[in-house]
Amino acid sequence: MAAKLIDGKKVASELKVQIREDVENWVEAGHRRPFLKVLQVGNDPASSTYIAAKTRACKEVGIDTDTTHLPDTVSAKELKNVIQSFNEDDSIDGILVQLPLPSHLSAHAVIESIDHRKDVDGFHPMNVGRLSVDQPTFKSCTPAGIFELFKYYSIPTKGKHAVVVGASNIVGTPMAIMLSRENSSGKATTTICHKFTKDITQHTISADILVVAAGQPNLIKAEMVKEGAVVIDVGINRVADETSEKGYKLTGDCDYESLKEKVSWITPVPGGVGPMTVTMLMKNTLLAAKKSIYPD
Ligand code: GUN
Repeated sequence: MAAKLIDGKKVASELKVQIREDVENWVEAGHRRPFLKVLQVGNDPASSTYIAAKTRACKEVGIDTDTTHLPDTVSAKELKNVIQSFNEDDSIDGILVQLPLPSHLSAHAVIESIDHRKDVDGFHPMNVGRLSVDQPTFKSCTPAGIFELFKYYSIPTKGKHAVVVGASNIVGTPMAIMLSRENSSGKATTTICHKFTKDITQHTISADILVVAAGQPNLIKAEMVKEGAVVIDVGINRVADETSEKGYKLTGDCDYESLKEKVSWITPVPGGVGPMTVTMLMKNTLLAAKKSIYPD
């Protein structure tokens, strides 16, 4: 079987056209343009690349944004004060603190200090908690983007066996929550694999839907998946490549070349999940501006 391509880049651009229209309608109705505040601590090069992509997407959909850049020596107290000032600023709709943070700062504490009504990443415990009990919430962007792809390509999840490899707070855990809920999104029988899973293949081989967010290049090979499975590769790994100008190339967590002969649907890296994540951030920022999730 030759796999069909899940073209996240294409779906993301179509969705951005829709979001742009929604933003313009909102502004034409007399509201202030939505505003996303990004906070970067330190100079992680991958973070700078992601922030540049988010800033570009804001421009495309008509959302205002700027980035506050703090040195990696900032104290927890100073950072908390900055976030508090953003919480209190009525001209800011969404706040995004780019992760990872320098090791002396606790991501948990920082995320919890963000007003959950402005948490457009969907990382605050209030929003994750609401996700797990089917209440309206800011859904974390990568899982939300993957569900948009399922919808676009009419890929059913109900009653399927979904396997998520990776249990991070950003992707694996909210993805598994969304897949597993019987009353809302996923309705799938869901398995989570993580670094203590003894034999990953034993689980991945029975997956109808396999979502891989482990951050390990080429972790998943053809012999680990079922014929006809749907494979969603969330990995964005920088691997050394002397032939490229940057000195690296991006590769996913799956061995795309071998998998594409065996599975029914697959996302490429780059151009699969990544553009969808950024697009869902735009959607969440508009929801925050409209106070759709948390009305006053
Ligand atoms: N670091 C990697 N992915 C993300 C994300 O989606 N949001 C934030 N804030 N940081 C990240």
